[in-house]
Amino acid sequence: MRKKVIAGNWKMNNDLSGAVELISGIKGNYEPSENVKAIICPPFISLETAAELLKGTDISLGAQNMSEEDGGAFTGEISHSMLKSVGCEYVILGHSERRTIYNESDELINKKIHKALETGLKPIFCIGESLEQRESGVTNDVVSEQVKKGLDGVSEEALENVIIAYEPIWAIGTGKTASPQQAQDVHETIRNLIGELYSDSAASKIIIQYGGSVKPDNALELLSQKDIDGALVGGACLKAESFAAIINAGK
Ligand code: 13P
Repeated sequence: MRKKVIAGNWKMNNDLSGAVELISGIKGNYEPSENVKAIICPPFISLETAAELLKGTDISLGAQNMSEEDGGAFTGEISHSMLKSVGCEYVILGHSERRTIYNESDELINKKIHKALETGLKPIFCIGESLEQRESGVTNDVVSEQVKKGLDGVSEEALENVIIAYEPIWAIGTGKTASPQQAQDVHETIRNLIGELYSDSAASKIIIQYGGSVKPDNALELLSQKDIDGALVGGACLKAESFAAIINAGK
């Protein structure tokens, strides 16, 4: 049985005091369950404080991005060892906002995934099609290509530490959620592809999250789909009650 994994991607929201307030709200509202793993991904500047506040809970910490380099003259970048030193276990890589606004390529994302895995961080590897791609009927091709390129050279053993997040770009921040069936169809395609690239056992183990306008009122139906193993939540993770309600829906 795969656990449900609910991650909150705060994006560029909350200063340090806002982060403290949100984390204490989440702690006060969510119900720990052995069937659910919760992760929060605040901005870099709040990670160390977040790690302190999460001590004694079963909520894990993730970052929203990471350099593919180990260190050195890379102004503005953050390395794997920096993330680990403040208590990060996960890192979101290849988010569509990184791909579209900051021009991150599949090749760069692949390098970051390798770096994370080599250094003991667990990537939350994001993929997803644009509205134009969906409307022209190439969703499965686009997503499959992203999976193949992103995971190129990743061993089956290392894959156990990868979470895939399917986030259709047209559903992000738009209030337009993929229907449970639309999401399930793509999740099934991704799982089958993992089966082809690796093995049936790898396919049955991999966690595939859905992201894109997940809210307390649609979480349960999405999470009830056979191949949807969790959610990567944006807007609704910025309110403690709604993020906690989505975590609780995963039970
Ligand atoms: P929203 O939940 O705001 O649509 O954002 C989804 C997302 O991009 C999470 O990474």
